[in-house]
Formats: sequence, structure tokens, C-alpha cells
Amino acid sequence: MAEEEQYILAIDEGTTSARAIIFNHAGRIVATGQQEFEQIFPRAGWVEHNPVEIWEAVRAVVGQALSNAEINRHQLAAVGITNQRETTVVWDRETGEPVYNAIVWQDTRTQRICEELAGDEGPDRFKSICGLPLNTYFAGPKVRWILENVEGARQRAEEGGLLMGTMDTWVLWNLTGGLDGGVHVTDVTNASRTMLMNIETLQWDERMIEALGIPASMLPQIRSSSEVYGLGRKNGLLIDTPIAGILGDQQAATFGQACFEPGMAKNTYGTGCFMLQNTGTEPVFSKNGLLTTVCYKLGDRPAVYALEGSIAVAGSLVQWLRDSLKMVASAPESEALAASVDDNGGAYFVPAFSGLFAPYWRPDARGALVGLTRYVNRGHIARAVLESTAYQTREVLDAMNADSGVPLTELKVDGGMTANQLLMQFQADQLDVPVIRPVVAETTALGAAYAAGIAVGFWSGEQDVIDNWAEDTRWEPAAVPAERDRLYRNWKKAVQRTLNWVD
Ligand code: G3P
Repeated sequence: MAEEEQYILAIDEGTTSARAIIFNHAGRIVATGQQEFEQIFPRAGWVEHNPVEIWEAVRAVVGQALSNAEINRHQLAAVGITNQRETTVVWDRETGEPVYNAIVWQDTRTQRICEELAGDEGPDRFKSICGLPLNTYFAGPKVRWILENVEGARQRAEEGGLLMGTMDTWVLWNLTGGLDGGVHVTDVTNASRTMLMNIETLQWDERMIEALGIPASMLPQIRSSSEVYGLGRKNGLLIDTPIAGILGDQQAATFGQACFEPGMAKNTYGTGCFMLQNTGTEPVFSKNGLLTTVCYKLGDRPAVYALEGSIAVAGSLVQWLRDSLKMVASAPESEALAASVDDNGGAYFVPAFSGLFAPYWRPDARGALVGLTRYVNRGHIARAVLESTAYQTREVLDAMNADSGVPLTELKVDGGMTANQLLMQFQADQLDVPVIRPVVAETTALGAAYAAGIAVGFWSGEQDVIDNWAEDTRWEPAAVPAERDRLYRNWKKAVQRTLNWVD
């Protein structure tokens, strides 16, 4: 009897949905499952998820993917996890119950904590230790907020009764048995988003733990991005399957895009938009507002680092147009609406819903729609919405070029918004370099699958990733330079209008 074909399953716990994707050896999609979960906005600037709902969604999508693929769990050689990063959950070691909702990466409630910690030294106080500025974006301040604001949490944590994790850790702990032996582990890429990890030693840093006031007993063990962490247990669908890869979603996309050489970069257009550039085996500290982050670490091999330009709002602005303003019935409709006009009609939309991330790092900023006249219609606003993603990307690319001194000659892209032709052409025009999308645009899940598959020998290493990568679409820049730069100058003016909004 012929041996049954083997596959890799990737679980992508994203900001708005959980997905499970099964890949074959050629790195092509065999089947998927997807389920959205609730976005909870208790107050202006606060964003939460229910971790129990997320775990249930993960279970559901794994089942969907397996049944859509018509395979059984014995045909899964390994499982990889990738996740929205920084989103943080604290749960009880004895009951497994979260003590509070997960606080999402977009949430700005920790602004005061960050300002207090910055003191006279400013937001870059800890940058040389953890590679990050003090900002509401990162996990450490979120844990502190929970310990300060949930009744009894600090005491319980100090007694060793609470565990913390980013969403990779929460999913892994549950997959590997939860209360019944669940492993409490994170990988270096997720740990590098907490502010608690030393970016050089890749261990929790005493100074950071102390400054943020987080008991070390809460923290997961930091491991590489590609090794067997444990076997699936509780979720009957994955019993005994090795869980063998973890990468934060942006790092996973960088891996899936085969950005293995220093200087190679990708940009992922999801809820937010994140450009990562491989900088090799030494951390590089930005002078232009980028983050220093771990890109990946395969088993015992040295870690590879990246510079990152994080943009908080990209696809979520289109979602907001659909769900909150009801201006369009679906996300793709925004492209048609934007295409109904020739230009933005003078309107610029700066979506500083979570303050501004890279390269500004200004939690005090709030969104603004500027340049309005009576001439502006729905089409112009839809266009301003799409253009905002392209301008923000240009800002982080400019920062990357300034940091490296070697301008990028092309940009690999992926994620949902790359289906938007108008945006991709405008992006190439603004950047003045070709924008290239691969055949498998689900690079985030693919990267996590590769990390897991490499750990168990399903793939031999990076060369397989390179061999499987194939170009699908290329957008060539075609803008008139003077017009391109006029638009960008106006964008920069619009950004200035959003600053100093929150005291
Ligand atoms: O850092 C946040 C990021 O990981 C979220 O990614 O794909 O939900 O935009 P995404």
C-alpha cells in the first residue's frame, strides 16, 4: 500500500480571525478553515479579545481544515503556530481561566504607564536592552496594567498563581493539554515584542522585569522558532501531533517570503501593515524610528534579526469604513468606490486610531480626515483611505533606507489588501520600486508551516522555502515624480495635524 501523503498544518491566530491552513510539500495550500471572533471596544482607545472564544475558534478552524482536506491527523507531520503579536493574556495556573480579556496590541490604555516609565529619559529609555521604545503597543505594559487593575491579580501573581502569554503561548498551552500538562512556552520572535526580553541574550532581562514590576514566575520559557515544543493533546483532532514551529505573524510572513539574506524585506497588508527587513545575525538599532526585533531562530542556530516598521491601521481602516460608517458593504467594494474618482480630491485620512506607530511612536495622536472641501465625495474618501496605507508604507521604507544606507530595489508584499490592484499600483508609484506578490499570498501561515516542517525534517531548510517561492504579480512604478511627491508632502502635513491630540 502506498504511504499516505504528509502535510503541515499552520494555525494563524490573527487580530480578527483564527485560521488553519494545510500545506503540501510544495508549499501550496490544500485546505483552509477560518472563523472570526469578536472585537471588544469597551472605551475609546481600548481593544480586547475573549481568549476563551479565541481558543474555541482555533479548535473549530483546525477541524474545518482537516475535514476540507479530507485527511486525518496522522497525515499531519507537524503543526506551526503564528499569531497576532503583543496581544496579552493572563490566566490562572490552577483553573486555566483568564483573569481578564486579552488586551490587544492596538489598545492604548497603557499610555500613562509608558509615560511614567519613560520619565526624564524619554521613550527610548530601554531601547538598548530590548530594541523597542516605551509604547502602548507592547506586551509588558499590558501585563502591568492587568496586575494593577484586576482585583487580587498582583498578589496572586506574586504567589506564583498566574501565567502570562502572548497568543502563541495561550494557543500552545491549550493545544498541549492546558491544565493537564500544557507547556508554557513562547518563541524568541514573540518574546521580542514584550519589552521584557534582552534582545542580545534572548533571555528575560532582570532590569526589564523589575522596571515593569512583573513576577518572573508568570513568564513562559523562551525557545527557538523551530523545534518540537510538545504534542497535541486536549484538542482531540491533533492528539500526538508535534507542535513544532512558532513565529509572530510578521516574522512568519518574512520567513514565508524567503527573506533570508540581510537587506531583503517584505510588507504585509493585514489589519495593520508591517515591513520587516532582515539584518542578519546581529541586532541593528534604528536611528529612524524602526524597531529591532528577532526575525527567526531555527533550533540551535543563531537568531536572525530584523528592523521593523509597524503601521497600526491598514486593512482595519477599510473594515471601519464597512462596519462603523457603513460606507461600503464589503472590503472589495472600497476599491470600486475609490476607482470611481480620478484622485483623492484633496482629502487625506491619517488613521491614528491607536496613536501613530512607526516612524513616529506618538500615542498622543488621533485620527484625522483633512483637506476637505464641498467637492469631496464618498469616492474621494475611499481613495484617501486606500492611499493612507501606501503613504504610511513609504514612510517606513524611507526610514529603512535611511537606516541601512542601501535603498531597497523591490518590495515583496503579501496579505489580504494585496488583492486591491488600485492600492498595489499606487504603492509601487509612491515607493518608486516594483511591488511583487508571490503565488501563495498566505505567507504568514506558510512561514509558520515551514518553521514546523523544518523542525521535523519534512522540509530540509531555507533552500526548500526559496525553491517553493514563485512570483505571481508585479506592479511597476509609473507615477509622474512631481505629482507623486506633491501627494506625499500633503500626507506629511496631514500627519502633523494629528499630533498632540490626547493630553
Ligand atoms: O503586531 C501586530 C501584528 O502582529 C498584527 O498583525 O496580521 O493582524 O495585521 P495583523
